Amino acid sequence: MQKEDKIYIAGHRGMVGSAIFRKLRAMGFQNLLCRTSSELDLRNQQAVAQFFAEEKPDYVFLAAAKVGGIQANNIYRAEFLYDNLAIQNNIIHHSYLNGVKKLLFLGSSCIYPKMAPQPLKEEYLLTGLLEPTNEPYAIAKIAGIKMCEAYRSQYGCNYISAMPTNLYGPNDNYDLNNSHVLPALIRKFHEAKRDREAFVEIWGTGSPKREFLHVDDLAEACLFLMENYNEETLVNVGTGEDISIKELALLIKDIVGYEGELRFDTSKPDGTPRKLMDVSKLNKLGFSYSIGLEEGIKAVYEEYQSRETDLQKQS
Ligand SMILES: NC(=O)c1ccc[n+]([C@@H]2O[C@H](COP(=O)([O-])OP(=O)(O)OC[C@H]3O[C@@H](n4cnc5c(N)ncnc54)[C@H](OP(=O)(O)O)[C@@H]3O)[C@@H](O)[C@H]2O)c1
Repeated sequence: MQKEDKIYIAGHRGMVGSAIFRKLRAMGFQNLLCRTSSELDLRNQQAVAQFFAEEKPDYVFLAAAKVGGIQANNIYRAEFLYDNLAIQNNIIHHSYLNGVKKLLFLGSSCIYPKMAPQPLKEEYLLTGLLEPTNEPYAIAKIAGIKMCEAYRSQYGCNYISAMPTNLYGPNDNYDLNNSHVLPALIRKFHEAKRDREAFVEIWGTGSPKREFLHVDDLAEACLFLMENYNEETLVNVGTGEDISIKELALLIKDIVGYEGELRFDTSKPDGTPRKLMDVSKLNKLGFSYSIGLEEGIKAVYEEYQSRETDLQKQS
């Protein structure tokens, strides 16, 4: 990528898109193309066709998607399938029609079979049944990977796919009905400290293990892949290290400075016991993460507190 190339970041206001935007800006890329969903609804084929024909981007980061936690994934099954298929079909096809030089598609670790061995290797894709609660989302993401592969084999397009693990960072979603575990815990501990509550309740036993990557590390990996990776097969992006939910809760409790108790509601489901990415392919290509979990959560908690202060000032 040259500094003057026109780079379209689909989903630039989201957690991932905004991190890619910050990274590109910091590296001196000035010709960044962005549209909010109200300016350009990426589900609208006609609108996307017109946008690509007029703007003719050189590179595309596809970070726009309908994203949510387990509950949203399970309730809005039709929307997760339709919106994600429509967004990615429109962007990938119109990138091809308009001669985009390279496109990076972002998937997720939920594309892997529910019972796949751990750590999850790229070749486990399509070797078993998916987790039923997020099957529509995963099916859409698998279709995106296959679109990139098919456009490469039939039309010679240099489209690549990256599968990030669980992410956290600036612009995360803290809505307790719809957020991922890490931001939800930050909010719960913060509010329990503020309201001097005696305990914080955590769903499940606390024993499942999960992997977390700071979104700035993901953005760096996306740029690295855009500049250095030109193969058909997908690439996992993660730390290759995991932590139990109980350990994560204790770490966040400490960072927030909450002094009450943790209580585990074991009537709530635990989900998959372990979900860890095998990141040896990415490491061999020459990339590894740099923001440690404690350092990353501290930075995110500062951002969370300043956002809370801003919201209070506005009200
Ligand atoms: N968050 C994670 O932990 C995680 C983990 C693994 C993979 N990923 C992947 O990373 C990608 C981005 O996730 P994220 O966490 O950044 O999500 P996010 O914060 O919810 O952002 C999604 C973005 O997509 C845009 N968007 C959604 N529907 C749209 C539509 N119909 N038309 C135009 N734009 C639309 C939104 O634009 P507006 O803001 O303008 O409405 C939003 O900025 C997704 O593909 C996701 O699967 C995320």
